[in-house]
Amino acid sequence: MKLEVPGLWINKNKNVVMNQDIFTAMEKLPGNIIIAYFDPPYGSNNEKMPPSRVRYASYYHIWTTVCLNDKPEIFGKAKRRVDTSDTIACSVFEEFRKSETGKFIVIEAIEKLIKQTPANYIILSYSSGGRATANELNEVLNSYGKIIEIERINYKKNVMATMKWTNDWVKELDEDNFEYLFLMEKK
Ligand SMILES: C[S@@+](CC[C@H](N)C(=O)[O-])C[C@H]1O[C@@H](n2cnc3c(N)ncnc32)[C@H](O)[C@@H]1O
Repeated sequence: MKLEVPGLWINKNKNVVMNQDIFTAMEKLPGNIIIAYFDPPYGSNNEKMPPSRVRYASYYHIWTTVCLNDKPEIFGKAKRRVDTSDTIACSVFEEFRKSETGKFIVIEAIEKLIKQTPANYIILSYSSGGRATANELNEVLNSYGKIIEIERINYKKNVMATMKWTNDWVKELDEDNFEYLFLMEKK
């Protein structure tokens, strides 16, 4: 495999990079953030798609291995990294189940995310194919502030959505896929 060196430049700004769970990272943030942008994985709202097939990390396992340059233990026919298996790599934002309260776990996670973000403005991107619907997101965002703008972009289906599994799933590929960008001002 031959890779091109990306166009790197020296950034003289003061930056902080954190690679950890968002809720842990959030505890270390200063409280005076102007704007936060979130691009969580969308999971899938397709009941026919087995949840174990839609883990975000598993679709990028080759890139993970290139970056880490390690020799991971692998599993299954596709020989994926063990650390991308659905039991290990599941993000709360990809949860397809409901909690004891009867609400989708992913909606509760987005609600917690919005509530705990110490920023004046938040931009959240989400897909129409995601587990949370636009209406549910509207409701969550409006309860912690005011939605200022919603941008709806007709977007090419992402790599996970083009994976074929059953014929029913293929049928859904014909439907339009929209990427939503919600801009909100927090209370
Ligand atoms: C749609 S991708 C974001 C892509 C990014 N905007 C980019 O351009 O590269 C979603 C990302 O959220 C990360 N993620 C999922 N759950 C997370 C969590 N609980 N805390 C932090 N990051 C998480 C995934 O690892 C993945 O990199």
